[in-house]
Amino acid sequence: MTVDENRRMVDVYRNLAGKYDIVSNRLYVVGQRTMAYKHLAVQQLDLKPGDTVVDAGCGTGHNLPLLSKAVGPTGRVIGVDLTDAMLARADDRVRQHGLTNVTLQEADLTRFVFPKDTAGIIACFSLTLIREFGTVIQHGFDALAPGGRFVALDYKLPRWWPNFAVPAIGPMVAPFGGTLEMVRRKPFEEVARHAETMRMLERYFGWVYVAVGVAGDRSTV
Ligand SMILES: C[S@@+](CC[C@H](N)C(=O)[O-])C[C@H]1O[C@@H](n2cnc3c(N)ncnc32)[C@H](O)[C@@H]1O
Repeated sequence: MTVDENRRMVDVYRNLAGKYDIVSNRLYVVGQRTMAYKHLAVQQLDLKPGDTVVDAGCGTGHNLPLLSKAVGPTGRVIGVDLTDAMLARADDRVRQHGLTNVTLQEADLTRFVFPKDTAGIIACFSLTLIREFGTVIQHGFDALAPGGRFVALDYKLPRWWPNFAVPAIGPMVAPFGGTLEMVRRKPFEEVARHAETMRMLERYFGWVYVAVGVAGDRSTV
């Protein structure tokens, strides 16, 4: 991401951090079950006790208690985010829940070095915001252990949505730093490109997807 893009994103999420959880909950009014989608995404990681998992763009840390429980006290959860204010909220959550196996890191995901032999990487509603999402996904797969999973939960345009109606989405994505160019991005295609196998689950009439990519054995490549 360019310095300007990062600055814009940080500005958006610094303003949003204090009310992010409330805004996110409000989406239930229009039928979006955001926490249920996150539970589903975490489940798809198929984590085991002792695993290392990265929450890429962890925001205020909705996933952290779920991930912490899944890897247990011998495991490791690393929450990464670009925005200090979002991480401050995540840190509150870590303390409130007494999560001893979670660390938080402020970083641009395009430059983040994923720990080698990571068992799982989860990115919820973050990849489409990053122009170089392909770099993030590639670095993620390079670091995943064979059989490790890259799970992306995000929005996409449903197949049935007409092209002429795309501009109508603008006002819905703008509060989250989204643009009309971003809504056409397809990180799930990049997950499919790097994965040995990939499964797509769709929710909310095709607006929401969970892409589950399983890493192959790269030692033989
Ligand atoms: C819509 S929020 C999603 C937060 C959380 N994953 C959730 O589902 O509630 C997007 C998050 O991505 C972060 N983000 C955007 N660009 C990023 C980048 N290049 N590197 C790391 N985090 C980024 C933002 O700071 C923000 O916290």
